[in-house]
Amino acid sequence: MAGIRLRHSGLREQITGGDSAAVERQHALGKLTARERLDLLLDEGTFLEIDMYRRRQGGGLRSGGRRPYTDGVITGSGEIFGRRVFVYAQDFTVFGGSLGEAHAAKIHKLMDLALAAGAPLIALNDSGGARIQEGVVALNGYGGIFQRHVRASGVIPQISVILGPCAGGAAYSPALTDFTFMVRDTAQMYLTGPDVVEAVSGQRVTHAELGGAEVHGGRSGVATFVHDDEESCLEDVRYLVSLLPGNNLEPAPASPPLGAASDERPALAEIVPVEPNKPYDMRRVIDEVVDPDSVLELHEHWARNVICALARIDGEVVGVVANQPMMLAGVLDAVAAQKAARFVRFCDAFGIPLLTLVDVPGFLPGVDQEHAGVIRHGAKLLYAYCEATVPRIQVIVRKAYGGAYIVMDSRSIGTDLSLAWPANEVAVMGAAGAVNVIFRKELAAAEDPEGLRAELIAEYTRELMHPHYSAERGLVDDVIDPVQTRAAVARGLAMLRTKRGSSPQRKHGNVPL
Ligand code: COA
Repeated sequence: MAGIRLRHSGLREQITGGDSAAVERQHALGKLTARERLDLLLDEGTFLEIDMYRRRQGGGLRSGGRRPYTDGVITGSGEIFGRRVFVYAQDFTVFGGSLGEAHAAKIHKLMDLALAAGAPLIALNDSGGARIQEGVVALNGYGGIFQRHVRASGVIPQISVILGPCAGGAAYSPALTDFTFMVRDTAQMYLTGPDVVEAVSGQRVTHAELGGAEVHGGRSGVATFVHDDEESCLEDVRYLVSLLPGNNLEPAPASPPLGAASDERPALAEIVPVEPNKPYDMRRVIDEVVDPDSVLELHEHWARNVICALARIDGEVVGVVANQPMMLAGVLDAVAAQKAARFVRFCDAFGIPLLTLVDVPGFLPGVDQEHAGVIRHGAKLLYAYCEATVPRIQVIVRKAYGGAYIVMDSRSIGTDLSLAWPANEVAVMGAAGAVNVIFRKELAAAEDPEGLRAELIAEYTRELMHPHYSAERGLVDDVIDPVQTRAAVARGLAMLRTKRGSSPQRKHGNVPL
């Protein structure tokens, strides 16, 4: 026995990563090594490495017999705040983190384990893409990853962290996961790099301009979170994991309740202006309703007219969807609908209750929007809410007009509890617009059109938009004092905690993608 131990001792310690020049280069670029990243991500001393000794068996084109252990990816399992996760970290210091046959097989094995154990999968991506020397087997390896992402979708949370290049087909791995983190300056994602773009279109563009964190966090919506450095990025990955269940059969981890059911928030009486068109920051409303410092906003810089955030209310994790009157007056448009739809579906898949804060003047009118397919994209959000079976609470903060009212988790599409503030205006459209449409002829023929218009607006407001109009019809369950919102939502969540939802038997619905 002693001899066996002696023969193997030492090798494990030698398997650290690429040579010192490669590690230096990694550090010089402002990047950490794969093992340094795992140290930051996981609770100390919890990492169990799998397949450390795996390496490629074939030669590969002119590879000079180089067969480093790990094959450029470190795979294993560990804990985050004491909860199990599975993680793979591509090691750019070995073959540029490129994906060959052994590298892919290790990831496949880890993904299968994560799904079998029902624990989140975290991918730390830093790779030159398919290992060119290994030909089609590398592409085959990616296919296996994609297929496993899809199989695990809605079963375990899947998180991608982009910490270097993630180019070509490789970019479809994060695209298939639930959340994508990117780090400014060092992370890039694109299907075809700057050289190919220039060759095909003549357009010269840098890596960052083409697919850096700013672009994907603010314009394309590919990145869910953007960070300045790897340390803060990995810290936020840890926080995200603390909000998520291990799988779709577990509840999200609750933290101790804070007595929210009797918590009055005087600030809520001050934040929202009475005038329906006056902007304000909906994030201030969210901060007053949820537990202190619990908000994790998704896509903070993309489609900012709608806010999507994970947070806690009385310790329970909720998904918050809210119109943002500070951006485009809080209208819904094609990208906002896509952003919110995906978030609603994520929350529903993982049993996270939804809180929808409504202050919406409608869908953004315009040729661009119609031609961009706002009907198709708006339908995604509608579809997502209609099929969601998790507890759903709607709070109408101010106005809710037209189709956008229906879409923002109205009673008709299945909200469980609808609360409204006294200034609520739920209507097909605002009073001025409505009067112009339905009394067009009368106004044209009137001696004093402005006087008549003012009279009709007052009448319309009195008859169709008074604070209890929807509540009298059961479309709103209660009209509440704004300061009571946190308490009312906490009580609503408690009431709905045992809600069980079911959908008809089918292979799957046909969501308007
Ligand atoms: N296959 C095989 N080896 C790769 C590779 C790949 N796809 N991508 C990078 N490498 C290797 C490099 O050959 C280099 O090896 P060496 O240290 O033995 O010389 C090492 O990884 C580091 O790469 P390098 O190009 O020096 O790093 P960089 O930071 O200057 O550039 C990239 C990074 C990703 C922009 C660049 O490596 C690249 O363009 N790679 C190819 C991307 C691609 O087309 N992938 C295939 C399609 S999916």
